[in-house]
Amino acid sequence: MANKNKSYLKFDHDAYAKTRAPDDFWGQVRRTVHGVPVSDDQIKMIVDAIQSALVMKPDDTLLDIACGNGALAHLFFDACAEYLGVDLSEHLISVARKNFEALPRYQFKQQGAVEYVCLERQPERFTKVLCYGSFQYFPAADAARVLRILFDKFCNVQIVFIGNLPDKDRAADFYKTNQPSAVELADCYSQIGIWRTKSEFARLAGEAGWKVTFSFMPNEFYASYYRYDAMLSR
Ligand SMILES: C[S@@+](CC[C@H](N)C(=O)[O-])C[C@H]1O[C@@H](n2cnc3c(N)ncnc32)[C@H](O)[C@@H]1O
Repeated sequence: MANKNKSYLKFDHDAYAKTRAPDDFWGQVRRTVHGVPVSDDQIKMIVDAIQSALVMKPDDTLLDIACGNGALAHLFFDACAEYLGVDLSEHLISVARKNFEALPRYQFKQQGAVEYVCLERQPERFTKVLCYGSFQYFPAADAARVLRILFDKFCNVQIVFIGNLPDKDRAADFYKTNQPSAVELADCYSQIGIWRTKSEFARLAGEAGWKVTFSFMPNEFYASYYRYDAMLSR
């Protein structure tokens, strides 16, 4: 039964990241199971899923929206010509700069997603976009706006890969007997962010102009039972 009357914990990415050790890269972005960073095998499954969707080419310029500390992103540096990672968290961007930035080709910038897409002056340089484990944390209006601006202004982007989305149709598999309220499931500031069904996501992306296909991680992936990935194309 939904715990409609209970309040719930909000999540602050920046504050949480500061509680983890400077070199606990997966812990900082909560890529953990019961607080323990996931194994290299799990990371490889994520990298494989992103590679297979984005089909990176040596002349690609990759935009990574809500890139966190860059630990995941830097695994793609060899596969592309240039990279820009943008994230709201000052702390995570400082970790990214210290450990992974390699100017001028691989760069990180502290900025919110919607502010960044509005203000980017050379959007046409990007050919692929990644947004992994993050889209659900954007306020709903920002999420719609980011997709619309990517479609209209980032005119050379062929593929947008939005990974690790929480599936509203499978929220019960995750929460089991302690179902949260509809308000919590729709709150971008909750622990998991906004849960969307695939059809809700398809409508959101379609209204911005994108075609959408969905994919799922292998069963061995720790979050496969309640998450899906979305690939957007023109
Ligand atoms: C779970 S982490 C994922 C980071 C990275 N993409 C990865 O997969 O390792 C979610 C990230 O979303 C960022 N984020 C949340 N809301 C944001 C927003 N409105 N604009 C930009 N970044 C945001 C957080 O700061 C955090 O770094």
